[in-house]
Order: sequence, then structure tokens, then C-alpha cells
Amino acid sequence: MTAGQAQGAIEPFDAIDVIRAKRDGGVVPEAALRWMVDAYTRGYVSDAQMASFAMAIFQRGMERDEIRVLTDAMIASGERMSFASLGKKTVDKHSTGGVGDKITLPLAPLVASFGVAVPQLSGRGLGHTGGTLDKLESIPGWRAALSNEEMFAQMQGDVGAVICAAGSGLAPADKKLYALRDVTGTVEAIPLIASSIMSKKIAEGTDALVLDVKFGSGAFMQDIDRARELARTMVALGTDSGVATTALLTDMNVPLGLAIGNANEVRESVEILAGGGPSDVRELTLALAREMLALAGQPDADVEAALDDGRAMDTWKAMIRAQDGDPDAALPTARETHQVLAPADGVVTRMDALPFGVAAWRLGAGRARAQDPVVFEAGIDLHAKPGDRVVAGQPLFTLSAADDARFTRALDALEGSWEIGDEAPATGPIVRERITA
Ligand code: URA
Repeated sequence: MTAGQAQGAIEPFDAIDVIRAKRDGGVVPEAALRWMVDAYTRGYVSDAQMASFAMAIFQRGMERDEIRVLTDAMIASGERMSFASLGKKTVDKHSTGGVGDKITLPLAPLVASFGVAVPQLSGRGLGHTGGTLDKLESIPGWRAALSNEEMFAQMQGDVGAVICAAGSGLAPADKKLYALRDVTGTVEAIPLIASSIMSKKIAEGTDALVLDVKFGSGAFMQDIDRARELARTMVALGTDSGVATTALLTDMNVPLGLAIGNANEVRESVEILAGGGPSDVRELTLALAREMLALAGQPDADVEAALDDGRAMDTWKAMIRAQDGDPDAALPTARETHQVLAPADGVVTRMDALPFGVAAWRLGAGRARAQDPVVFEAGIDLHAKPGDRVVAGQPLFTLSAADDARFTRALDALEGSWEIGDEAPATGPIVRERITA
């Protein structure tokens, strides 16, 4: 008897029939699909069977209605939160992940400074894309784990924004399936990514959601067409579930901003909250804030003013203090640094996001296994970006680590990932498209 199978219980379907149906390109009937997810969560369907089913989905795809049922079945596997008693609109943001993506940090307090509640349930990083909680944990004292009561109190009161660890009760089927996909080459399937992300967001109970769907070398989806398809699928899932959902397609070919790591990304976020910071980070923060506030019924909110006059900064400080952090404390700085200098005069023509993400990860900013710690001060600070003119000998970027033995492998990752030439590359706006229901 398989683990999880009750003595004498009769299961209504056989996993092998469900796998064969998808393997042969068919549509899995609703009841069978719901059963498959439930039986996998209970441990009746084995990891081997679910991995085979995930690969069949990867190869054959799913119809819109199948993706809706899959998402719904994953939501039904756990608790569903509700913020209805807050008496405020709730708006969340989700990014599909990229290199140097610290946008949640300035965005949540910026939006909350307009009286909207922002429940930002976040995760830790695995692989080359960093995790929001890892970045915030570089602030002395800051605490990611909140009870539901603490989270509600923070959203209801003056702070309004909360960034904290997602509890294990939301969509446990997704947690199990995502870990399996990670080791079976089935992460990059649009039906699986869309249902995974949206099951957690819908279960969280937000009224509205803005998706930052990235394309390019540092993103899940390398090309904009696949990113568009993913965005459309997720917007449809949100809308069908009563969550007002909009997506922006944004460029992730080049690292976002000048900081890649944890503590240095917090520093850059604070610069944005002080009205400064790199222009691409500011542009994307403002674009996402406008979308979130439009969904919350404030389409004309002056988000630039809130960054420039200190309102967003005040909310940031209150948000960090509410979770026992000291927003004025010094952040960790690296013991060891290594500068890479421009070999010639010219213009930076290329900086590929993915190798910079991998290098920061190898420096200790990310983790290879879920149980590993991250090194808060490890990472990369860029001193020039594509389009910037440089002179020979000028620092291009600085690597930081706790131990100088880390530099060799990080530099290996960066081999061939940047270029200096004669002509400035063509660059476009960071936000390329807006997808609505
Ligand atoms: N993030 C998720 O939560 N799930 C995916 O499948 C991919 C990214």
C-alpha cells in the first residue's frame, strides 16, 4: 500500500490513466485533474508519477480551462486567507524574478503611503535570483516570520505594508510540486508556472495583483513572446478568480540597478525611497506603483511626489520597525572586495544579466540548497551600465565576499558576459508592454 492510502479506501481514478491522457495530448477531465492534485498532496500519487505528469504537461501544454482547474485544485489543498475585515483595499505585486530585482522593497511602502494595504508574502532565494526575505534579513533585527494576527495588525494600522514569509498553509500542493519540478526539468512550463504563482496569490486573498513578468537573459522566459503568453495566462487566472490582475512585461537582459546581492540591494532601495537611486529602478518602481494604485481606485496618485517628499521613506521606516528591524542601523559590509577595471576606453555595450546573477550567487549572495545561509554582504556593485562611456583603468564593477577564495569562480561566471565597444547599444524602456484582462 502506498503511503497516505487509507486501508480499504477506493480511489476514483488511476494516476496512470491521467498521465497517459496528457502524454497523448488529451484534455484531462476536471474531476480527474482535481483528484490527481489531491492524491499527490496526500501521498497516494507518488513523486515518480507526478514527475511524469509534469513532463507530459511540459511537452503537451494545457488548455485554459485545465490550467484554471489545476490552479483551483492547488488552492483547495490548503488554507485561504481573507483581508475583507481590514476595511481597506489590498494590492499585491509578484515578480517572476530577475537579477538585482529589489523592487518590492521600495514599492510596498510607496503604495502603502497612499492608504492601501500591501500584503507582500515573500520567499527566500534559490539559484541566481535573489529572495526578498534574504535582502531584508540583512537589516539588523528584522524578522520575516509573523503570525497572521501580527500581519493583519500591521496592514490595518498606519504602516499598511507588510513583507513577510509566506506560511506553509497556502497551496501546500504547489510547495510539493514545485520542489519536484525543480529536480525533474519541468520548471519552465507555462501552465505549471502560472498555476504555481497564481494559486499562492489567489489563496492569499488579495483584492488586486500586479505582475512583473520579466523576459531576457536573467529571466525564466528568455523571449518576450513566451513572457507575454505567461502574462496572459496569469492575468486570465486572476481575473477568473475575482482578483483584479494586470501585468507588465519588463526587460531583464541587463541587471536591474547597480546593486546585486542582499545588503547592497537594501542600500539601493533606500536611495530610491530618498528620491534618488538608479533611473531604471526608479522607473520600474513608479510604473508598478501606478498600476497597483490604479487597481486600488487611485489612478491619479502622484507616486513621484511620495518618493521625493519622504512619505514613502516614512512608511518604509515604520514597516521595518514594526518587524523589529532598525532602519537606521549600519548594514553589513564585505571583508574582501575585488575590482574589475575597464581594459580600454569606449562605451559599455553589453552586460548580460544571467552571468552577473550567477557570479553574485557564487560570491555567497544566494544559496545552492534550501538549507544554506546567505552572506548578506556578498554581491556585485556595478559602476557602469550599457550605454555608459568608460576610460581604461576605470572600475567597471566590484565583487564582494566574506572570503577571497570565492572570487575565482565568480570571475569565471563573468567571462564573456560584458563588452566595451565604440558605439552605444540601442536601449529601450524597461516596461515594454502592459497586459490586462
Ligand atoms: N515561482 C513560483 O512560485 N512558481 C514557479 O513555478 C515559478 C516561479
